Amino acid sequence: MGALATASSSRADPGAAFSNPQIEARVDALLGQMTVEEKVGQLNQFAADTLTGPGQVVSDGDQKIRSGQVGSLFNAVAAKATNRYQKEAVEGSRLHIPILFGYDVIHGFRTLFPIPLGLSASWDPGLVERTARVAAQEASREGVRWTFSPMVDIARDPRWGRIAEGAGEDPYLGSEFARAYVRGYQGMRLGDPDSIIACAKHFVGYGAAEGGRDYNTAEISERTLRDVYLPPFHAAVDEGAGTLMSAFNASDGVPASANPFTLTQVLRDEWRFSGFVVSDWTAVREIMLHGIADDGRTAARKSFLAGVDMDMQSDLFLPNLPGLVRDGEVPADRLDESVRRVLRIKFALGLFDKPYVGTTEAVGVPPARRGVDLAREAAEESFVLLQNRDTGSGALLPLGAGRGRRIALIGPLADSGLDMMGSWTGAADPGDVVTLRTALSRRVASEGMVLSEARGTAIAGDSESGFAEALGAARSSDVVILALGESGHSSGEASSRSSLDLPGNQERLLEAVAATGKPIVLVLFSGRPLSIGWASRHVPAILEAWFPGQQAGPALVRVLFGDSSPSGRLTVSVPRSVGQVPIYYNSLNTGRPRSDPIGLGDKKADPYYVTGYIDEKNTPLYPFGYGLTYTTFSYSPVRVDLSTISARALKAGTAHLTVSADVRNTGAREGTETAQLYIRLRGTSVARPVRELKGFRRLRLAPGESRRVDFTLGREELSFWNIEMKDVVEPASLYVWVGPDCTQGSPAKVELGE
Ligand code: BGC
Repeated sequence: MGALATASSSRADPGAAFSNPQIEARVDALLGQMTVEEKVGQLNQFAADTLTGPGQVVSDGDQKIRSGQVGSLFNAVAAKATNRYQKEAVEGSRLHIPILFGYDVIHGFRTLFPIPLGLSASWDPGLVERTARVAAQEASREGVRWTFSPMVDIARDPRWGRIAEGAGEDPYLGSEFARAYVRGYQGMRLGDPDSIIACAKHFVGYGAAEGGRDYNTAEISERTLRDVYLPPFHAAVDEGAGTLMSAFNASDGVPASANPFTLTQVLRDEWRFSGFVVSDWTAVREIMLHGIADDGRTAARKSFLAGVDMDMQSDLFLPNLPGLVRDGEVPADRLDESVRRVLRIKFALGLFDKPYVGTTEAVGVPPARRGVDLAREAAEESFVLLQNRDTGSGALLPLGAGRGRRIALIGPLADSGLDMMGSWTGAADPGDVVTLRTALSRRVASEGMVLSEARGTAIAGDSESGFAEALGAARSSDVVILALGESGHSSGEASSRSSLDLPGNQERLLEAVAATGKPIVLVLFSGRPLSIGWASRHVPAILEAWFPGQQAGPALVRVLFGDSSPSGRLTVSVPRSVGQVPIYYNSLNTGRPRSDPIGLGDKKADPYYVTGYIDEKNTPLYPFGYGLTYTTFSYSPVRVDLSTISARALKAGTAHLTVSADVRNTGAREGTETAQLYIRLRGTSVARPVRELKGFRRLRLAPGESRRVDFTLGREELSFWNIEMKDVVEPASLYVWVGPDCTQGSPAKVELGE
């Protein structure tokens, strides 16, 4: 996936969003008046009001602001607070430089959407852009003009709790979503009062934490870094993202927040990024714990010179950078350059001209109807129907008249509004959340059906005292909806797990309910894929709902009853067991593959000496790209317009391939399919993955309707980092699939000649 690293694929000036001659002139004029201390103040960020990490809120904040020591504050979220701090800066400090207020607006501000992993399952960047736009409008109203989002870390290990915050395991899809978030947050023009600046994080390799343990070391080769982990960041930069956040982890022995290779060579020299880099929370200080600095002065020097412009919460730039500049250990023009980057964005946002916002009483006015509707739509699109078996009179879902009148709703997540919010809840109000229980009771009442309810067990308990009531409810029903899964805070930061099973005794509850023989719809809430092998064998219908946000209940009811059809597709592989992780579809074939997933004759004759386990399959329980709906689709054989093409012409951008297929709705209901384009390259100088996603299209098709999908493959899609670590298109055999997930279809072949 070297595609995005090519000059030809990038905008001529990725910083065009926040830099123009007028801004440059104002920045220069201001810089000319600043003391070294005031310059360093612009590179300093403190937490105000609330903490979302270790340490304390800034003490003596007002005094520090008045003396020009605070370029940015974060976690001040209400207009009252941001205006108050802003007044200290704009009216109380010598140069009247406004503060840039930051906040973790991750999946909504006041209107809460599904967690990012759920949003990614929509495979709908346009939808994500709209959610980010609403978040920007709501946050900016409170004076928050900077979000620490999107998190674009590729995650291949669901033990890592922060998999919930990203777009899954694929660099191509991750790049599309990175762009969508940036567009949504930053809007048409940064100077519009409802635009907020995006921050692509965590740069870089944070998602590769060994053992899935948060903050842990990552070991990533340069090629994998460039092929897998960097592309979504490059996409964000290319889309005009104003800031990046440097990560906590070390990779190859170098802490990410002091890594000159990634922060300067890649980001500045190769990508021409002209925004600024903020460290993650106390990450500058943490390089002492990593062991590459013995004191704060060295930590500040190493981080700053590597390429961190702003220090979040370490309080090390402020006391150390002025001395480092005076002693010649940090060049004065390096300091100026970082200050320029920060001021540029403040000017672009219009903060100098309009530093205050109108005040509202509460933190965020209640979501407007438009936001609520979008929250419901986004939740509906995020659900992935994992299975839907026939229980005697057709597939179990959707529910409706034919399924009987009595529904039992069982499980600890049926009525837990707080858990529906997942991690990072912005300024959302749990009171806005509509649970499955609330929405289902309304629906059942309006249809003259009967609902019995039982909690059954706690999310993480081991008491079976609630089982009897749950089994009673199940026995007196025609169909059981079981709402099981994780708590909203078992994923996210510092929430890694060593097991991917349902927590507590929920599996036992599931087994007991299944033993009643009643048909079960399992609605699974989680911030990561869970290993649900038993359920996949014994439960007819399973809907992965992630954490759907404030419209959880209404969205679920609409999908369960067939008012809308599930259309989500997995953006992460669902493992059979935790022992399979890391697990991802775009792996290398090895010299001893166990199976021949792509029909290229790669299978070894020997059944024993192959890669894999003696006690588990290699394949996931549900693969990347997979998801069912209430209708079915068929694909025509894939077509390519050329059987040979010149690699040189592809590289030069003077030739491309067109790939197409026809997709037909073969069922009786309208439905949405996501047609996915995958490639494989063979005969290259380095081994390439067995499949790589290079395009996708969502199609809404009426029963019987057929539509042709076309994809273009050119330099962007076919280049990769070769044996000489150059981003090239090589002569090779190219295999191309168009299908419903990463496992299906038979490929067309194209020769990429000289
Ligand atoms: C997290 C970041 C977050 C920051 C500010 C850190 O602990 O890693 O993702 O943006 O805190 O809250």
